[in-house]
Amino acid sequence: GSNSMWGGRFAAGPASIMREINASIPFDKRLWKQDIAGSKAHVAMLAKQGIVDGEDAQAITEGLNRIAAEYEADGVPVDLDLEDIHMVTESRLAQLIGPTAGRLHTARSRNDQVATDFRLWVRDAIDEVQAGLIGLQRALLARADENADAVMPGFTHLQSAQPVTLGHHLMAYYEMVRRDRSRFADARARADECPLGAAALAGTGFPIDRHATAAALGFAKPTDNSLDSVSDRDFALDYLMAATQASLHLSRLAEEFIIWASQPFGFVKLPDAYSTGSSIMPQKRNPDAAELVRGHAGRIMGCMNALCVTMKGLPLAYSKDMQDDKPPVFEAHDLLALSIAAMTGMIETVTFRTDRMRGLAESGFATATDLADWLVREGGIPFREAHHITGRAVAAAEAAGVPLDQLPIATLQGIDARIDDRVYAVLTVDASVASRMSHGGTAPMQVRARIAQAQEELGS
Ligand code: ARG
Repeated sequence: GSNSMWGGRFAAGPASIMREINASIPFDKRLWKQDIAGSKAHVAMLAKQGIVDGEDAQAITEGLNRIAAEYEADGVPVDLDLEDIHMVTESRLAQLIGPTAGRLHTARSRNDQVATDFRLWVRDAIDEVQAGLIGLQRALLARADENADAVMPGFTHLQSAQPVTLGHHLMAYYEMVRRDRSRFADARARADECPLGAAALAGTGFPIDRHATAAALGFAKPTDNSLDSVSDRDFALDYLMAATQASLHLSRLAEEFIIWASQPFGFVKLPDAYSTGSSIMPQKRNPDAAELVRGHAGRIMGCMNALCVTMKGLPLAYSKDMQDDKPPVFEAHDLLALSIAAMTGMIETVTFRTDRMRGLAESGFATATDLADWLVREGGIPFREAHHITGRAVAAAEAAGVPLDQLPIATLQGIDARIDDRVYAVLTVDASVASRMSHGGTAPMQVRARIAQAQEELGS
C-alpha cells in the first residue's frame, strides 16, 4: 500500500529497491533521543501558542515519553517502509494515541526536524569529544611533568638535531590538543542555533514561537533564515573538520610511538594492553593500537571529504542527498572517540626508555649548535664562521669516535685557537637543554612553567 505518512496522492507503494535506497532508519535511529526531545519542545510550544489544545498536547507528550521508554528498553524498530526515525516515532505515536498523533507535525517539516535533531546530536558529540581530549591533555601533562628533565634527541628530517627533553616533546602534543579543543568549541558555538520552525523551507503561517523552542532545547537562539536552516550542514562539516585535525594530531603521535617502539629506536616499550603478538614470530610485539589510530585518521578524513562532496553541488534548500550527511559523521565520531581513548591509554601506560634516549642524544653530536653558539658568544666570531669551525670539530669527533665533549682541548685548539676549556660546560646535553631558556624553549625551567600554566588551564 502507499505510505501512511505521505501517501495521500500515491496510488501504489514504493518498489522494494526504492524502499531500500530511501530509508535512513538503519542509521538515523541513532537520533532518537534528540528526535523525541525536539518533538516534546515543539508540541509544548504549539500548546502554549494555542495551535494545539492542551489535552492533545499532553496526550502527545505522554505518548512520546512512553516511546522513549520503549526505545530505551528494546531499541528502535527498523521498519524500512517508515523510512526514518521521524516517521517511525510518529507512526508509533499514532498506534499509541490514535489520530491526535497527527497534530504533532503541525507547523513543522522533517526538513527542520532532522536539521534540529542532527544539531543536537553533534552538540552532544562535541561535548563527548571535549571530555576525551581533556583526559588526553591530563595524561600528556602528567607524563611531561615526570619527564621534564629527561633528555632525548630532538629531530628535524628525522635526523638528530639538538637535544630536547621528553617533557617538551610531549607538551608539543598538549598544544595541538589545546587547538583541537578550541576548534571543537568554535564548532559548538556555531552549531548552537535552532532550525526548528523553519518548516519545509519557507517558514510557516502558524503563530509559532521559535525563541521558545530554541530555548527549550538549550540553543542560544533560533536560526535567522528558513532556507539556510534546512539546507545548512556547516555544523556537521565543522565537526568533521575539527575531527579531521584532531585525528591528524593523534595520528602523528601514533606514528611517533610506532617509530619509537621499533628496535633501532627503542625509545619506548608499548604497554602489553595496547600491543599484539605475532602468530608466527614469538619475539614480536606489534604496536597495533597506534597503527589503527594512524589508520583511523585516514577514515575520519575520508568522512570529512564525503560530506564536503555531498554538499558542494546542492541548490537550496533541502535535497535528499543530505540524508547521506549522517553516516560519515557517526562513523568519524566513533573512530575519533576510540582513537582518543586508545592514545590516552597508551600515554598513561607507556614505558619511556629515558636512558636509551639520553644515550642517543649524547652520541649524535647534537650539541654542535651549542659549540657554534659559544664561539659566537665568547669569541665574538660571526655565526657562519663559527658554524664552519664547529663542522671541523664534529669531523674530528667522528674520526676519533667520541662525542664532542670528549675531544681533548688540544684537538679543539688545533681547529681554532680561540677555543678554551670553558667550552666543555656547554657541550653536555644537560647544559644544552638548560640553556634553551627562550620563551617556549626546551629548558626544563621553561617546560615546567608551561606545565604549571597548562594545569591551571585545565583546572587541575
Ligand atoms: N530522512 C531524511 C533525512 O535524513 C529526513 C528529511 C526528509 N525530508 C524530506 N523532504 N524528504 O534527511
